[in-house]
Amino acid sequence: MSGQEITIVRMAAEHLDAIAALEQQCFSEPWSRSALEEELTNPQAYFVVAVLAGNAAGYAGMHVALDEAYTDNVAVAPEFRRHGIGRALMAALAQQCQASGCRFLSLEVRQSNEAAISLYREMGFREEGRRKRFYRSPEEDALIFTLFFENAG
Ligand SMILES: CC(C)(COP(=O)(O)OP(=O)(O)OC[C@H]1O[C@@H](n2cnc3c(N)ncnc32)[C@H](O)[C@@H]1OP(=O)(O)O)[C@@H](O)C(=O)NCCC(=O)NCCS
Repeated sequence: MSGQEITIVRMAAEHLDAIAALEQQCFSEPWSRSALEEELTNPQAYFVVAVLAGNAAGYAGMHVALDEAYTDNVAVAPEFRRHGIGRALMAALAQQCQASGCRFLSLEVRQSNEAAISLYREMGFREEGRRKRFYRSPEEDALIFTLFFENAG
């Protein structure tokens, strides 16, 4: 993918098939196409897609409740990983949080997910706790990571 530019755009109807396929590829309990479609009209949702050469290479989404934001998911297609797309997607969520005055952006991650945990730590997320047996297929604890925004409030 060298030389090709990544663009981060708001998720739209044209991305739904590709994102639903990416969910199937990346997660044992994937979001359905219709669940993703509902987020297009949810005023609390902010979902973004990384577009590379006209195709969706990854996506991330969050929900905002007052001044709190919670990441739902971030995923990058396996063939495009380690090129900064995950970082760019999470940075887009963080930027939106700051623009809308959120105090923090929080998320859960499987405790075995070293790639995601490395990404979150690198971006300044702090480990805040654990939810026992949060995940199924396979059952696993979640670690809670949170990024705090200094200028909020
Ligand atoms: C986690 C995920 C989104 C990262 O996406 P990505 O585009 O590969 O990440 P980036 O290239 O932006 O990586 C940014 C940094 O994160 C860390 N990182 C990413 N993947 C890593 C890995 N496999 N091992 C160690 N560190 C990793 C590195 O610090 C990396 O910086 P570097 O490449 O300069 O060393 C991707 O691996 C993925 O889609 N995984 C499956 C879905 C998933 O688990 N999502 C998270 C659910 S909570």
